[in-house]
Amino acid sequence: MNSGFEERLPALRESLEQSYFQLYRPYRASAEDFEHLIDTLRQAAGRRDDALRQRDSRDSCWYANEKTVGMMLYVDLFSGKLRSLPDKIPYLKELGITLVHLMPLLKPRSGENDGGYAVEDYRQIDPRLGTMDEFREVIRQFHAADIDICIDYVINHTAREHEWARRALKGEAFYQEMYIMTEDPKIVELYNAMVPEVLPDKCPGNFTWVETIKKYVFTSFSDFQWDLNFKNPMVFEKMSELMIDLANLGVDMIRLDAIPFLWKEIGTACRNLSAIHQLLDLLHQIRDLCCPSVVLLGEAIVEPHQIVSYYGTHDRPECEVMYNASLMVNLWNSLATRSTVMMKMDQGRFWLPPHAVWINYARCHDDIGWGFNEDAARLLGWDPFEHKKFLYRFYAGQTPGSFADGELYQYNPQTQDARTNGTLASLAGLSRARKRHETYEEEDCLRRICLIHAMILSMPGIPMLYSGDEIATVNDQSYLQDPEKQAEGRWVHRPHFDWLRAEQRHTAGTAEYRVFQTLRRMIELRTSHSSFQAWTKTRGIELLNDRLFGFEKEKEGEKTVFLYNFSEYPETCPASLILTPNLEAEDLITGRLLDGAEAQFNLKPYEFLWLTLRTKQ
Ligand code: GLC
Repeated sequence: MNSGFEERLPALRESLEQSYFQLYRPYRASAEDFEHLIDTLRQAAGRRDDALRQRDSRDSCWYANEKTVGMMLYVDLFSGKLRSLPDKIPYLKELGITLVHLMPLLKPRSGENDGGYAVEDYRQIDPRLGTMDEFREVIRQFHAADIDICIDYVINHTAREHEWARRALKGEAFYQEMYIMTEDPKIVELYNAMVPEVLPDKCPGNFTWVETIKKYVFTSFSDFQWDLNFKNPMVFEKMSELMIDLANLGVDMIRLDAIPFLWKEIGTACRNLSAIHQLLDLLHQIRDLCCPSVVLLGEAIVEPHQIVSYYGTHDRPECEVMYNASLMVNLWNSLATRSTVMMKMDQGRFWLPPHAVWINYARCHDDIGWGFNEDAARLLGWDPFEHKKFLYRFYAGQTPGSFADGELYQYNPQTQDARTNGTLASLAGLSRARKRHETYEEEDCLRRICLIHAMILSMPGIPMLYSGDEIATVNDQSYLQDPEKQAEGRWVHRPHFDWLRAEQRHTAGTAEYRVFQTLRRMIELRTSHSSFQAWTKTRGIELLNDRLFGFEKEKEGEKTVFLYNFSEYPETCPASLILTPNLEAEDLITGRLLDGAEAQFNLKPYEFLWLTLRTKQ
């Protein structure tokens, strides 16, 4: 079977060539370099096996399907080894998961490695997890169970122990050019004048001095993560080839890590530069050429309007899927302020190109950086800086009215900046209520957990659960005993999956049962209603009550209305905003009936309703 590459090339070549030279001509790329790239891609596409070539002809919109429900997990924390992962398929199926994001799997440097985001070898699986063959077998078994696989591609930097870095350390000029290096402290100063620090606490400055070669190396994240020099056409070629070879393993989605950092220019903040869009456009064309069924997921946790820009445009798509960090922040903001106004202001704010789909999530492996819509905050009379302070203090349990039990992360006493760590259940207050033996409060926590999950399952996009949240996992301090982890506070929300506790999902009356079964039911409803397809028209409903949030979806004449109460108090809204007197609505989750003839609807604390509308009999 041929790879399809030669058939696709004539239609794509001209545009690829144009984009390539637009970006790389100023960096000395020649016609020969371009031919070399095409040849490298041809060979990489040739390594794609028959089964995958067949998979390439699957519905290219598979990711927008209402059946797509994701879960992200660490293999070691979830199943120990890769070879044991397929044993957990029944658990994932029980919940209704159809897409699994396996957190960094490729061989990281030993010792501290930022949870695998410091890759030493992109062609090897982390030996502690298993082998490439075992990974291929995992993919085969997951595909047989109709579960798609997403993996990370750490594209901004390699580990200091990667072969290119090792050779750079030996003084080989070719490899030194793969990274951003200089011996000149003035250049470092020029960059640092404009570039904010990512981890000021752990890793101040954006450069690391390397004594052996007497050079400073650009290290956005930490001294062992060396930023690649994407201005070098050879870096682009090598990283494109590696991307295709990852796709050739059989994965369905590739998560491009830390994309806002990919391009650096002196005199700028080195974030979200326009060249990154050219770079992503090129990568997308390369995926069209070599592995067209593989979806690109971009990780850009930046200001809302910047996140959206990484979808590219209709003509120039970049990523199919992006993390909806704005929604995530809005969800936690709404719970803290008991007001959904900011979320309402953000709803429908951006026009998205037709291929675009959000990943809606409540928690992930990272901290919460509180990147909300600052203009909206100002319009509401909130000083953005003070509001951010309020949020991180609220979620660290430091403000009156806080229910939360999270932790501060990267607190900078000078700038007063900080971020937040904690599991969904702890941020929702469960660990705190338990410590204080507040049974009534525990009920509110469970409601908050379910409410947040209901939101990510119903807002347009792919819901992505964070493993452990489905059984209400709270913060875990055991990482403090682990020398490889103790310096990194994010491990507090990355505990081992507790399979014994997971058994409780079948025991009514437990928190595990409550959260798991509510989620399972909502996922079942989602997957059996086509209105949950990501591109279904969704419209906000004004409910004249800031504590409530509502929207409706319409598909093939069928309307579904979603109502959420973000406060711990009963709330009401005029019935006429949702139903006319001749209609009634039934909550798909509980069967509760609402009559359009009533004057108002009452929502219990943190109640949510997924209403299907019909004419009264
Ligand atoms: C992404 C990852 C984060 C990692 C960083 C550097 O933001 O989600 O965990 O620390 O990239 O690779």
